Amino acid sequence: MGKVFGAVAGVGAVGSLYAMKKSWDPLPSVKAAGFTTVDLSAAEPNKLMVEKWRGKPIFILKKTAEMVAKESAEQSARDVIVGGEHYLICIGLCTHLGCIPAYRPAKEDFKCACHGGEFDSSGIDTLAPPPSPMVIPPFAIKGNAVVLGEEGEEYRKMKEAGVLA
Ligand code: FES
Repeated sequence: MGKVFGAVAGVGAVGSLYAMKKSWDPLPSVKAAGFTTVDLSAAEPNKLMVEKWRGKPIFILKKTAEMVAKESAEQSARDVIVGGEHYLICIGLCTHLGCIPAYRPAKEDFKCACHGGEFDSSGIDTLAPPPSPMVIPPFAIKGNAVVLGEEGEEYRKMKEAGVLA
């Protein structure tokens, strides 16, 4: 009887250890939340890509040559240049109350349906109530891809220049 109890207790202990180990492991959603690599090879000019990073929508907009040519210094300071192409990369949440603005390719801007706010193609607020530009997330450029969540050299330069938001 003692042996049987010992064997059962042993199985129970292994079971509890397994359960504890499972609870120590990060959840799949947590594992996936750290970094997100986005390949930009398929990006099309003036067509918004929406990715997900840490539960937030990330806007990626490849600019056309015409868009780049007419940019102001403030706009071009926010461009992420990958493989010679200019991109807007920002968290796709309105800086007013957090709605997700819609991209209007014909106007090359973003409209927030919640209270009418607008942002230009660089994510800069152009019509109130949004108080500030959409935020540029940490990123690192790796070949023709960006790794969201990693602070690369280009991100650090933007941070130092104060153009992230
Ligand atoms: Fe976008 Fe209010 S949440 S304008």
